[in-house]
Amino acid sequence: MTILGFETSCDETAAAIVQDGRKVLSSVVASQIDAHAVFGGVVPEIAGRMHIQAIAGVYHETLVQANLTLDDIDAIAVTHAPGLVGALLVGLNFAKGLAYATGKPLIAVHHLRAHVAANYLSHATLEPPFLCLIASGGHTHIVHVQDYTSFAVIGKTRDDAAGEALDKTARMLGLPYPGGMHLDKLGENGNPNAFTFPRPKVDGVDFSFSGLKTAARNVIVNSQSSMCNEDFAASFQLAVANYLCDNTLRAAAELNCNRIVLAGGVCANSVLRAEMQRRCAAKQIELFMPELRWCGDNAAMVGAQAFYEHRAGNVAGKTLNALPNCPM
Ligand code: KG4
Ligand code: ZN
Repeated sequence: MTILGFETSCDETAAAIVQDGRKVLSSVVASQIDAHAVFGGVVPEIAGRMHIQAIAGVYHETLVQANLTLDDIDAIAVTHAPGLVGALLVGLNFAKGLAYATGKPLIAVHHLRAHVAANYLSHATLEPPFLCLIASGGHTHIVHVQDYTSFAVIGKTRDDAAGEALDKTARMLGLPYPGGMHLDKLGENGNPNAFTFPRPKVDGVDFSFSGLKTAARNVIVNSQSSMCNEDFAASFQLAVANYLCDNTLRAAAELNCNRIVLAGGVCANSVLRAEMQRRCAAKQIELFMPELRWCGDNAAMVGAQAFYEHRAGNVAGKTLNALPNCPM
């Protein structure tokens, strides 16, 4: 089954064509980062407008790259939730228009389910069940993926997402938006043990990142520009990575689960990847991470998840709407 997927939940306009949930025939991403960077974060109105300008070109390009026409497509998929509603609506209405003009099925895909499915593109043999840590700019969840379309949220952040803590901390250091990637680079040769950060205390395997962010701010303000930014970046990332790993491994032990999967933009982080690899190897837990190109927002992961949604009979009707918030 050949699925054309769209993703416009935040600041990337993306389209991709994916076969049987696993094979990417083409993937095009138009990033808006430069337009938002001057504001230090995503401006929703600008995001919506730029999606409108880009989507037809991105759609066309993804067909050209796959050397296909619309006739070769079996179904149209789109991220419908969660995200910036004005951004989601652009992809949703474009996909709806294509589906109704051609009579092809329309498949609604939850953004976090799509992040999980990014792993199916990188690991041909990976199948549920597994435990997944989803860490992105807006979400931090530990999820028991029982089946391709059946999810149990075991823990989640009670305030900021991990990506938000990394981005805001990077901004305090004067790094460009989005800061996670720049913090990663800055810390490459830093000493990860130069600074210590408090461990947030939350029941169970839920997270809280706002205190860590404040602690980072206090260190920066109190240092009065005398600190080594490389050491700070390395130490802060290790604190975040340790926290994510601790809770994920605890949840895995409680569920007696020996297969862990990472998902979302933050799982591109080199410290998190290395730390999770080290810890999983020590406990003989199987670890899967998406290739770096599928960690951040893209439409190939939408096409991947859509295959399994369709197989489960989840086809959307004409009333499909965009939702800014929506449980997995
Ligand atoms: O999944 P994603 O692309 O978008 C959302 O759904 O939010 O995640 C974006 C987040 C941002 O916070 C960004 O700074 C972070 O992923 N990120 C990273 C890295 N690359 C992207 N964080 C740490 N290290 C990276 N290498
Ligand atoms: Zn995302």
